[in-house]
Amino acid sequence: MTTATTTATTTLIDGIGLLYTGDPEREEIADAALVIEDGLVAWSGPAAEAPAADERVDAAGRAVIPGFVDSHSHLIFAGDRTAEFQARMSGEPYTGGGIRTTVAATREAGEAELATHAFSLVREMRAQGTTTVEIKSGYGLSVEHERRSLEIATTLTDETTFLGAHVVPAGMDTDAYVRLVSGEMLEACAPYAKWVDVFCEEGAFDGDQTREILTAGQKAGLGVRVHANQLTEGPGVRIACELGAASADHCTHLSAADVDALASSGTVATLLPGAEFSTRSPYPDARRLLDAGVSVALATDCNPGSSFTSSMAFCVALAVREMRMTPLEAIRAATYGGARALRRTDVGWLRRGARADLVILDAPSYVHLAYRPGVPLVHQVFLGGLLL
Ligand code: NIG
Ligand code: FE
Repeated sequence: MTTATTTATTTLIDGIGLLYTGDPEREEIADAALVIEDGLVAWSGPAAEAPAADERVDAAGRAVIPGFVDSHSHLIFAGDRTAEFQARMSGEPYTGGGIRTTVAATREAGEAELATHAFSLVREMRAQGTTTVEIKSGYGLSVEHERRSLEIATTLTDETTFLGAHVVPAGMDTDAYVRLVSGEMLEACAPYAKWVDVFCEEGAFDGDQTREILTAGQKAGLGVRVHANQLTEGPGVRIACELGAASADHCTHLSAADVDALASSGTVATLLPGAEFSTRSPYPDARRLLDAGVSVALATDCNPGSSFTSSMAFCVALAVREMRMTPLEAIRAATYGGARALRRTDVGWLRRGARADLVILDAPSYVHLAYRPGVPLVHQVFLGGLLL
């Protein structure tokens, strides 16, 4: 997937018009330079003060940002739901019912087909500047199909999430399925997962079921993240905060108590505007969250049903135009925020010692990600210091 063209010990990226570091202590540096050593950021600052290096890359006035951290995606699937999208664009609502269509297609597919497809989506993401991606299971919904999905995901990322509790599979009793997910399925999947997630929603899993599954996941050593308050104002966000989840994802329908809980917890609110775009639904109120002091992340939710985009730049543009985030808040949420949502300090910013995951944009500023929506602005991507 990667072609290493940088072999020198140190590389100086020079001529950076605007460097967005993602480091809260010094977020933006104009006329900047950055040095990579052994795959890590060794130095950044004003170009005039840059140290010598073995190799030099001239950014020619372009902007540099940390690689995007896409902290929420569902890439292990087969099948197509174009018709469902078409029906929505003719007025049908999104209910999550189509998840079972993807489950049937995913169970039918061979392992190689699923792996090749997921790999192609990761490659699509990389080309658009995403250097860290979280991948969930959730379209298998049997012990073997969930385990297989997670095993494939581990070949693509360290950030793998067990989402056996996506919906109750057709023909199965809900209580029996909750027992299966928190028992035998969790046991089979935990070796391949870092996180456990539940779709806490009417028609999926209620508060008690969500708590039971997440607590079992915690006992198995997994970190918690929750699909919370996407379609209705349910208990998901409060449960996420109560259990110390790294992230509550969607956060579209929030009560004042939900916002307070997020503000006083270490739980990040991960907003997924691709889902509202593709389901023609009202966007989450990002301003309310930011003004309350909540940590916010942006992610694609890339999946075949509610948000079939792999573009973090598109999500940034939506966040700015539709959710009233400033361009600075949006780029921060798409990099540093995503890293916080995954409890990672080695990615999402270009502080000294961080992984040299970065993007040179074909633009003088990160603002262009929203100002020039839909335009491919990725000039070059460096992953661990290596040019892709
Ligand atoms: O995050 N909400 C639940 N899961 C996905 C959608 C899955 C689907 O429709 O296939 C989401 O939006
Ligand atoms: Fe999702």
